[in-house]
Amino acid sequence: MASTIVNMPLNVGTIKGLDCLSHGKFNANALPIRPSVSSLPHRRMVVVKASTNDGPIKKLGMSDAECEAAVVAGNIPEAPPVPPIPASPAGTPVGTSVDIRSRPRRNRRSPVLRSAFQETSLSPANFVYPLFIHEGEEDTPIGAMPGCYRLGWRHGLVEEVAKARDVGVNSIVLFPKVPDALKSPTGDEAYNDNGLVPRTIRLLKDKYPDLIIYTDVALDPYSSDGHDGIVREDGVIMNDETVHQLCKQAVSQARAGADVVSPSDMMDGRVGAIRSALDAEGFQHVSIMSYTAKYASSFYGPFREALDSNPRFGDKKTYQMNPANYREALIELRTDESEGADILLVKPGLPYLDVVRLLRDNSPLPIAAYQVSGEYSMIKAGGVLKMIDEQKVMLESLMCLRRAGADIILTYFALQAARCLCGEK
Ligand code: PBG
Repeated sequence: MASTIVNMPLNVGTIKGLDCLSHGKFNANALPIRPSVSSLPHRRMVVVKASTNDGPIKKLGMSDAECEAAVVAGNIPEAPPVPPIPASPAGTPVGTSVDIRSRPRRNRRSPVLRSAFQETSLSPANFVYPLFIHEGEEDTPIGAMPGCYRLGWRHGLVEEVAKARDVGVNSIVLFPKVPDALKSPTGDEAYNDNGLVPRTIRLLKDKYPDLIIYTDVALDPYSSDGHDGIVREDGVIMNDETVHQLCKQAVSQARAGADVVSPSDMMDGRVGAIRSALDAEGFQHVSIMSYTAKYASSFYGPFREALDSNPRFGDKKTYQMNPANYREALIELRTDESEGADILLVKPGLPYLDVVRLLRDNSPLPIAAYQVSGEYSMIKAGGVLKMIDEQKVMLESLMCLRRAGADIILTYFALQAARCLCGEK
């Protein structure tokens, strides 16, 4: 019997439990099965073989029949005594045992049992790493997101991707900081085949052909108004005209080599229109991850600082969803499914776990959750102020998104969390 896991970096385990961290490194000798490892170029293979008992039978003296006869005759061999009942502290009430049959604590009483019965797992393979890029050569720290940078597309970005791949994170999503001089009311830079995003995709695909590149489809980084769509004189965001631009943007990204285009704009009908545009250009194989339920949230603040993409006026409430609404997510789900979305995304993440679960229970498609900038920054800030344990809260928040039903998680913690899961930090 042999099972094979291919394409996993050797040091990456699928960590089932937060508990595993305290268990230290994976110990092959502690298991009845012995993993043997062989490596292929660019691929690692783990072969797990059941141990076979085909060696010679050891002779220790008496035969089985003699042993049985000795026991029957009353010569019982020695074994350790029945363990003593552990003492309780003085003053513990006695005779208070409650008559309950179901005691859920029985299945939680040891690390081995807890990990055996753990329902949800968290692995670096579940992460998509959002990365900010700019035209500069340097990496510029983002004030409101400690540990995040606007990365130089040619150097810093490539190094960050290499670090992520080392710990099993092989999916990224790109967000560009576009020079103000290239922004316009119609955001035409969004579909410049030589713009920052298409250029970066070509560079990354050249270096790492198997890297999965997600792209953001929306006009806000390119819009002089800072909105996701074209703004009419009276402030109205023009739906169908914006969708026209988004189709061109998605096709330009696909042409450069994007694997998954991700409309985050919340215009009506954009998934179907983008699907048709991609197909018409021969990009049937390119997936669409739709921001199905994207709420008009204040948790996006640090991201807008990172990209300098705050709306110049007004807010995004005429296209992003009202945080008070739940059923409305089902309407978006139905349209996205019928228009050909491949992945459905909920954003933000932790404050919207109910919506993640709603989509999980109502669609067979993969569900993504976006742990957004504000969620990231709150955990970072709490950690810096020593109010919470940053690492534990980070892993718990990611596990909770998985438990709620997310298959993949877009998270600025992707690298840090993957390193923890690999036992590196
Ligand atoms: C815009 C976009 C936003 C985010 C991702 N894509 C901001 C917005 O809608 O204003 C937010 C991500 C985050 O806060 O981490 N298309």
